[in-house]
Amino acid sequence: MKVLVVGSGGREHALAWKIAKSEIVDEVFCTPGNPGMDAIGPCFDVEPTDLHKMQELVLQLSPDLIVIGPEAPLAAGLSDALRARGFDVFGPSEKAAQLESSKGFSKDMMKQFEIPTAAYGRFTDLTEALDFLETMEAPYVIKADGLAAGKGVVICDTLEEAENEVEAMMTGKFGDASTEIVIEEFMDGEEASIFVLTDGDGAIYLPPAQDHKRVGDGDTGLNTGGMGSYAPAPVVTPRIMELVQTLIVEPLLSGMAEQGMPYQGVLYVGIMVTASGPKVVEFNARFGDPECQVLMAGLPGDIVPALLICATGGLVHGHREVAEMMGINAFQPAACVVMATEGYPESYAKGSIIAGVEAADAIENVTVFHAGTDKDGDGKLIAVGGRVLGVTATGPDLRAAVDRAYRGVEAINWPQGFNRTDIGWRALK
Ligand code: AMP
Ligand code: GLY
Repeated sequence: MKVLVVGSGGREHALAWKIAKSEIVDEVFCTPGNPGMDAIGPCFDVEPTDLHKMQELVLQLSPDLIVIGPEAPLAAGLSDALRARGFDVFGPSEKAAQLESSKGFSKDMMKQFEIPTAAYGRFTDLTEALDFLETMEAPYVIKADGLAAGKGVVICDTLEEAENEVEAMMTGKFGDASTEIVIEEFMDGEEASIFVLTDGDGAIYLPPAQDHKRVGDGDTGLNTGGMGSYAPAPVVTPRIMELVQTLIVEPLLSGMAEQGMPYQGVLYVGIMVTASGPKVVEFNARFGDPECQVLMAGLPGDIVPALLICATGGLVHGHREVAEMMGINAFQPAACVVMATEGYPESYAKGSIIAGVEAADAIENVTVFHAGTDKDGDGKLIAVGGRVLGVTATGPDLRAAVDRAYRGVEAINWPQGFNRTDIGWRALK
């Protein structure tokens, strides 16, 4: 079969890499892809949010399965448009993707289905928002309702800072994405990422993962898209996983289906493991990046049958079979160290030359996933983004996986790059 992977980040490189290993896959196409994905199969220069051009491309390629990586095309209705053309798509509808594209919608669903999460208010009126803020306690959590490229959540220690932030957001800090905001209670605990593959009815739970959102070692400094990840994350004990399943995922999936917007694809449940159990920080409509890299690297089997059954339905019956084919029970501990351009997550230069990726890739059980890379006129690999490479490794245990990933990092010669040196610390401490 032929599979089209939509997107161009480390997450999509990992998906394309894993999909290409499947015995039932003959060809993998990517759009727009990156130099890493280019080595797997043909890449096309079509922007995933351009629904018109995407339909043209898909009609031309006629893939048997389309896997959509990022949130923006999901929120723009790409799944719906391609499904309407008769294609099998792994990725939620525009309506279901509102779980990520509107934080207010997501909170309302959680309230309606009695899913544990932080108490909140939703506002389009500045005065009402400021009045509500006074009823809350520090630290204050303020969120833009819409997609803001991972920057839409601000946590303030004082009421004054919070008031300023609310005003900035509601007067256009993130454009239309923040004319509506959510103010919520602060939750204390350790975060983890749970990924559920679903056709809207059945569900497969992947091993729990953890991201490292802050730019600096010891979880210090500014928030980023994620500086590294590992799985499995021991903070998610079997008991916590059971609570996530019964208190969060099952009520959400059945509630969404009842409301006529069944959720299909991968559901990303960002949880806070608090003293009173797991609570939802956010839902996302896609795999996490860089959590996807460790999940793809650690699964020993074939993921395509699972993606396909999520796209076409019937997971409840085929559940055991496709989970076995993925090899969930033989998951290899995995770690991913993100290499970013100096300056990230603030401004950074583009165009620095990266050497040694092949040498890193040649280390046993190490795979380098590309994100913000490109080729210059001479065909040399260059950095063109903030997060640039995801050096990912597996091992018999997490310690070994982390050590191998750092051996990969050492093999890469890129003076303008940097990385955290403590990936996995919460699990290894
Ligand atoms: P999000 O963009 O929703 O992933 O939020 C970014 C980060 O803000 C999360 O990963 C958490 O670390 C933090 N965060 C969001 N909501 C809360 C909350 N209610 N309490 C504590 N931290 C939060
Ligand atoms: N790694 C966090 C995210 O993908 O949102």
